Amino acid sequence: MPVVAVIGAQFGDEAKGKIIDLLAEKANVVARFSGGNNAGHTVINQFGEFKMTLVPCGIFHPDTLCLIGNGVVINPAALLDEMRLLTERNVSVEKLVVSERAHLVMPYHILLDGLEEKARGSAAIGTTQRGIGPAYADKVARSGIRAGDLLDKKGLKSKLEIVLNQKNDLLTKLYGASPLSMEETYQQCCEYSERLASFIGDTEALAHEALARDEVVLLEGAQGTLLDIDFGTYPYVTSSSPAAGGACIGLGLSPTQIDRIIGVFKAYTSRVGGGPMVTELKDETGDLIRERGQEYGTVTRRPRRCGWFDAVAGRFSARINGFTGVALTRLDVLDVFPTIKICTAYTIDGMICDRFPSSVDTLEKCEPVYEEMAGWQTPIGDIRTFDGLPSKAKAYVRRLEELIGCPIDLISVGARREQSIFVRPIL
Ligand code: GDP
Ligand code: IMO
Ligand code: MG
Repeated sequence: MPVVAVIGAQFGDEAKGKIIDLLAEKANVVARFSGGNNAGHTVINQFGEFKMTLVPCGIFHPDTLCLIGNGVVINPAALLDEMRLLTERNVSVEKLVVSERAHLVMPYHILLDGLEEKARGSAAIGTTQRGIGPAYADKVARSGIRAGDLLDKKGLKSKLEIVLNQKNDLLTKLYGASPLSMEETYQQCCEYSERLASFIGDTEALAHEALARDEVVLLEGAQGTLLDIDFGTYPYVTSSSPAAGGACIGLGLSPTQIDRIIGVFKAYTSRVGGGPMVTELKDETGDLIRERGQEYGTVTRRPRRCGWFDAVAGRFSARINGFTGVALTRLDVLDVFPTIKICTAYTIDGMICDRFPSSVDTLEKCEPVYEEMAGWQTPIGDIRTFDGLPSKAKAYVRRLEELIGCPIDLISVGARREQSIFVRPIL
């Protein structure tokens, strides 16, 4: 039985949530492996519409085990809030397990995220201000507090005392901000401890036990490959590894245990926050994509920057991740365009470049080279088979497949579960 990773192939918000919810019907386990509540995964199903931030999108299937792996950073208040909202809407969270190794996003991380962004001035990254970067920084600096620490209140107190003193120095002396109270922060953690203790466990053991039982395991990516700390448009990236490699580290799996890696691509490009985006359209076409796609951030409601599909970035993403298949989403958003463009190469100072540059300064200089295709100009939201698509839509999908260099397994033509076309079976 397969282990299938579902990975954001662009700048995030590719509709991973919809794809996971769709595939979760056949999964025994769904596991998040990176990011935190900077993610916003939209799921629309029989329970209604949900914006999932930490809880895996498999939670709507009562028998599916949902793991939040060690690679995720967890804001306990946000997690508890999400659990409460789900429960209120009759979705059970009983099958949720949080890794004891997962790091916690603490109140000082959120404060520092805001202060660091302000200090960057015009070079601000445009973070979600959820404390994600500072939490991962503390993990690597070996001064993080982990979910497992909530299970030992005495040990937690001594760890917190050391870290909070350092953070208060930073807050007050570097940024001139107010310090956080040790007592209040500790009491808050004790409350989290009481409410979350029964959900904290050994997620890597649970994942491996599921594999031993030959179960179907879905790995739910967050963010996107072009936001990856190593392979994204650094420094305009998130602080984790959303690419497929991160799934192994973020869950304690071996690379040999992942059978399929599905790259989720939008049929065009969007990005929220700062950083280069070669195909960005700052004109009416970009506005039309935004309005048709309702491209506003799920977490922050910021308008997303929109543009044509970037196949240079797409090929790079496919290579870094080793995609075995692609889920192409939001094809319906392009229904009205008479002409659709695809960026097949860049030019830099007049010279052709077909690789995705590592430097943002170089990326800022890149001009897109476009290939034009005829649009289908008819609604496709009710079509359920590949053959049923207009021939111009099929030609567009086939061209993207060729340019990315990977077969398209699934096409999404609307936000609802059933608005999906399986081209090849995934599970
Ligand atoms: P994620 O973070 O990758 O899960 O993506 P988001 O949930 O942030 O953004 C995707 C948005 O697209 C959500 O509002 C979905 O409801 C919506 N959506 C998903 N698939 C489709 C589709 O095929 N067509 C359209 N028009 N919307 C879709
Ligand atoms: P999902 O899982 C889109 C972006 C932020 C910012 C940069 C760094 O819903 O696809 P951070 O708060 O992570 O330090 O911000 O990364 N970003 C996302 N953009 N979708 C996401 O998640 C994102 N998570 C972070 O906008 O540019
Ligand atoms: Mg999102």
